[in-house]
Amino acid sequence: MNILVLGGGGREHAITWALKKSPSVDELYVAPGNGGTALIAQNASGLDAEDGRAVLDFAQSHGVDLVVIGPEAPLVAGVADVLRAAGVAVFGPDAQGAQLEGSKTFCKEFMMRNGLPTAEYLSTDDEQAAHDYIDAKGAPIVVKADGLAAGKGVVVAATVEEAHRAVSSCFEGAFGDAGRTVVVEECLTGPECSMLAFVSAGKAYCMAPSQDHKRAYDGDEGPNTGGMGAYSPVPIVSDDELAAMERIMADAAAATASEFDNDYRGVLYGGFMLTPQGPKLLEYNARFGDPETQVVLPRLQSDLAQVMLAVAEGRPDDVKLDWADKWAVTVVLASQGYPGSYEKGKVITGIDDAEALGDVMVFHAGTKVDDRGDLVTSGGRVLNVTALGSTFQEARDLAYAACELIDFEGKQNRSDIGYRALAAL
Ligand code: AMP
Ligand code: GLY
Repeated sequence: MNILVLGGGGREHAITWALKKSPSVDELYVAPGNGGTALIAQNASGLDAEDGRAVLDFAQSHGVDLVVIGPEAPLVAGVADVLRAAGVAVFGPDAQGAQLEGSKTFCKEFMMRNGLPTAEYLSTDDEQAAHDYIDAKGAPIVVKADGLAAGKGVVVAATVEEAHRAVSSCFEGAFGDAGRTVVVEECLTGPECSMLAFVSAGKAYCMAPSQDHKRAYDGDEGPNTGGMGAYSPVPIVSDDELAAMERIMADAAAATASEFDNDYRGVLYGGFMLTPQGPKLLEYNARFGDPETQVVLPRLQSDLAQVMLAVAEGRPDDVKLDWADKWAVTVVLASQGYPGSYEKGKVITGIDDAEALGDVMVFHAGTKVDDRGDLVTSGGRVLNVTALGSTFQEARDLAYAACELIDFEGKQNRSDIGYRALAAL
């Protein structure tokens, strides 16, 4: 079969890499793709992944049998709806299902209706009501812009003053339309854990739990980023917590079938906090996590193309998941200055040497091949260096050894990915 993957980050390189291993895949296209996907697939860099009509034209003219949607923006924009209406199989929910990620209010109401544990909250488009709620509840408290804000719309406020400022900034338009409604919620405590599940026809097939590292610097200091590293599985998760998260994902999948107009077919990503009262949901996303995918998919031994096709065609009973009995760690190599401003166009060396270590996969996030044929940096997060090992320590040591072999001017990375797992083991 021919497959088109939409997106161009490390997640999409990992998805494309896993699809490439499938004997049932003929042509693989990625739009827009990056310097890494160009090595294993055909980049359709001129195709606008958020334009449903253009994606449909491409799919029809290239004999595409399955479209896999990586990022949230095309999902929320309804690209899956356009493709499905024309009879093209799609991995990724339609616009209504994607509202679980596109609107925090929609998501919270979904959780409340279905008894899915989450933080107490107020959703409002009335600025004064938000300020009053903060005064009534006190700090710490969390303020979120309702809509998509590229991961920047959440403030965990330590003081009521900070919370009031966050509300004012939303209503002053810091996030445009995404901040016209705010969610103010109870601050939960505990380690975070991501649980990704394949969902189709109301059934959930959970992948192994993983843990992201969102802050820029060691010790979880510094500004929030798109994610600086991840590992899977997560040893701090107890059997009871794992069972609770799996039950919550199954209940949510069943609710998508009973509530939504169309079947939810894709990944549902539960962002959990392991609180003293048990796992509670911080959010749902309508897609694979980035960089969680870069540690989850390398452990998958099943044929991803067949899994995705079964999900896309509403055949959940055909989803078979086998996992390698290995640990996976990924370390993000970023450009100096990220998540603030940074320079691009730095020549990257050493990827082949890193991969020659064995059990190392270097997924590209922000790279491209320049006019001179050199692989250069083109984004804030540049590479995701993933390693597998039979112990956590082995995977982590291998990932960091591989990072040492790769170089570009201004390379920065966290040196403590997986520190919670290390402490627990
Ligand atoms: P989100 O964009 O919803 O994933 O939120 C970004 C980050 O903010 C999460 O990964 C958490 O670290 C933090 N966060 C979100 N909601 C809460 C909450 N209710 N309590 C504590 N921290 C939160
Ligand atoms: N790793 C966080 C996310 O994908 O939203």
